[in-house]
Amino acid sequence: MFDTMTMTKVLGAVCGSLLVFLLGSWVADTIYHTGEAGHGGEDHAQGYVVEVATADTGTEEVVEEIDFASLMAEANAEKGAKVFSKCKACHKVEEGKHGTGPSLFGIVDKDIAAADGYGYSDVLIGMDGTWTVDALSGFIENPKAYAPGTKMGFKGISKPTDRANLIAYLETLGG
Ligand code: HEC
Repeated sequence: MFDTMTMTKVLGAVCGSLLVFLLGSWVADTIYHTGEAGHGGEDHAQGYVVEVATADTGTEEVVEEIDFASLMAEANAEKGAKVFSKCKACHKVEEGKHGTGPSLFGIVDKDIAAADGYGYSDVLIGMDGTWTVDALSGFIENPKAYAPGTKMGFKGISKPTDRANLIAYLETLGG
């Protein structure tokens, strides 16, 4: 008798919690599915987009380097001479003639901050290396970001083709 009672209670309890459990998971399921179709779905989609964007950034960097090399291959020095009008206020192209900025004679592949008789900022003096095409492109794109503290007061040229044409022009300046 006692055993049966216990059994019944246990069974009842088990059935009860099973029902609550089933009901609970059904409710949870419903909410989950609804969520997925609605707002949750957007979150999901966003997570996906972010992942793709990250993957893209990696590709873009590579693509941009390749692109700049091919932009250089197709660059037009005559167009670059026109872009150089943005630099003329401060830079001369004749060897040893300095304005607000140093002469840009033979600047491509020249040592950074190496023009005789020009007083560079400590920032440029402290930079190692040469003005490779990539270095020039980076500097001209955004001088203050490339060489923080430089006294070159120029906001930069964001258009890659303009930079490529300009560098092609700089390459004609001898040195
Ligand atoms: C408002 C004046 C100004 C303009 C405009 C300007 N520059 Fe400069 N540039 C400077 C100054 C000043 C320096 C020296 C920077 C330093 O010492 O920090 C400099 C330095 C440089 C250097 C480094 C030279 C070296 O000997 O290491 C390059 C390259 C350069 N400029 C290219 C350009 C180009 C290309 C343009 C046009 C797109 C341009 N600059 C526009 C003032 C200017």
